[in-house]
Amino acid sequence: MPDTVLPGMSADELALARRPLEQAWTLPPAAYVRDDVYGLEVERVFRRTWTPLARVDQLPEPGDYLTVDLMGQPLLVVHGADGAFRVMSNVCLHRAAAIAEGSGRRKLFTCPYHSWAYDTAGQLVAAPLMEGADGFAPEGCRLPQVRTEVWEGFILANLDPEAEPFAPQAEGLRSYFERYNMADMVVARTLTYESGWNWKVLVENFMEAYHHIGPHAQTFEPVFHARDSKVPDNEGQPWSILHMPAADPAAAGHGERMVQGLEDWQAGALFAAVAFPHFMFALHGNGMAWYQVFPEAADRLVLKIHVCVPGFARQLPDYEQIVEASAQFTDHIHQEDIAANDLVWRGLTAPMTRQGRLSPLEASIWQLNQWWLGRMGALV
Ligand code: FES
Ligand SMILES: [Fe+2]
Repeated sequence: MPDTVLPGMSADELALARRPLEQAWTLPPAAYVRDDVYGLEVERVFRRTWTPLARVDQLPEPGDYLTVDLMGQPLLVVHGADGAFRVMSNVCLHRAAAIAEGSGRRKLFTCPYHSWAYDTAGQLVAAPLMEGADGFAPEGCRLPQVRTEVWEGFILANLDPEAEPFAPQAEGLRSYFERYNMADMVVARTLTYESGWNWKVLVENFMEAYHHIGPHAQTFEPVFHARDSKVPDNEGQPWSILHMPAADPAAAGHGERMVQGLEDWQAGALFAAVAFPHFMFALHGNGMAWYQVFPEAADRLVLKIHVCVPGFARQLPDYEQIVEASAQFTDHIHQEDIAANDLVWRGLTAPMTRQGRLSPLEASIWQLNQWWLGRMGALV
């Protein structure tokens, strides 16, 4: 009998992480730092779960596209001539050159190598100088299509053709935030960060407010007390919500709120939601911050924080100032989190480091850990 079911993690360690929340420990350090664990995550987690690639408002017109790399698969996200959003392989069917780069608007995607041309649905429509290639029929050639769903304005993709659809799993999330009308939000600004930590260090930091008393003592803690934060039951679904009520609900009700129609308990509050593994968005009375995560290695990730506002806000005379202020505040908070995550990463990679106890305030981390252990096939 092997005494370990995931690389570098003993059955005893995994059992500690599996305990009920009130008795639970964190994941073992090996879960974060080992390359072989990351390799298993790519196979068992990232290539089988739904990842948000874009917002529909980033591709408003037919022909609009952007390119993205999802776990080693170059992808083309396209607003088709027929209005449908599609995600497809961005690899030429001839000799595998990447077809498009960056983003833009096109009627045809012409491969830069030998000029094979594809339409916005990925259908090959021209292949010059192929006369004499027996039986070659462009009509039978289409770029491989990736499972795609549009959910609340997000264009999601899943590399697993057998994956469960996203929307039913996320129905609890959708209904909880229905009044924010996320589908109507637009990306106003994107901030990009490269960081030298495991992706779970970022996600865990995002999903608990316990640390408001540390890195955010001067910023969030006076407004959203760590001790007041709550994690609603996720009914075993693959997501978590962190609810950060306003310390002073009376004050929170005042002032301009760009998102209309919120209930009182929502209006002044801050929420951090995660659809596992790393589809993260924060919601508040003025809009949304979408944290788009690109894991690159066990110890490396790229994060894009998309500052989003309700669509009508683009008409406001002070739109630029609103967006600038929101972007600056978001960056300021994230710099505080970067400093904390740097400290965690130094510690996690040290040889004497072991699991630690979770606080009940970290229920969302516990929820993610249970899901992760299941997905990774931990048998304990
Ligand atoms: S590799 Fe694309 S046309 Fe040859
Ligand atoms: Fe934080």
